[in-house]
Amino acid sequence: MFERFTTLDEIFCYKLGTALTMEHDSLDLMEELSKSAMRSVLTEFFDEHAQETRLNIENLEQCLALMGKENSQHPSPTTKGLAKELKSFMAKTDNTLVDAVVVAGALESQHHEVAVYESLLLQAKSLDVTEAVPLLSQNYSREQLALEKLRAAADTLAQADARDQDGANGAGHAVIEVPPYLPPGSV
Ligand SMILES: [Fe+2]
Repeated sequence: MFERFTTLDEIFCYKLGTALTMEHDSLDLMEELSKSAMRSVLTEFFDEHAQETRLNIENLEQCLALMGKENSQHPSPTTKGLAKELKSFMAKTDNTLVDAVVVAGALESQHHEVAVYESLLLQAKSLDVTEAVPLLSQNYSREQLALEKLRAAADTLAQADARDQDGANGAGHAVIEVPPYLPPGSV
């Protein structure tokens, strides 16, 4: 652990260690979401992305080894917080609607991961850590592709859930009660 960062290399190594924790947290979350999701399209996505996450972990471990920092993991409070928020939301949600909560939480986590790799990749390029660049590029591409798949699934599910809810309400669309207009001074 650095007491105070004084070089860009130290910052890069620390962020690699944070990303490694992020991916371990992500793996735990994928496994949990795979069990919690009701629709098979989501379960399949989480199982597939768990496998991709294992590959990302291997690449990050290689990057850390290149920097002489094998097995360095640093805290990732963001991923812990996102997972905690999602689990608490899921616990309060009826099973019939849990997929809407699951997919939204997964989408938020996925955006965070893409941003982390975007930043790591820029650092690796600027520091000329040439061997780390293809490894981080792979992770970045996997996360971006997963984000696209999740976004498409979220869109499809949101529309299906909204249709189901309209059907359950017995109407094609919500009816909004508008109060009658009252002229000023009439009350
Ligand atoms: Fe991910």
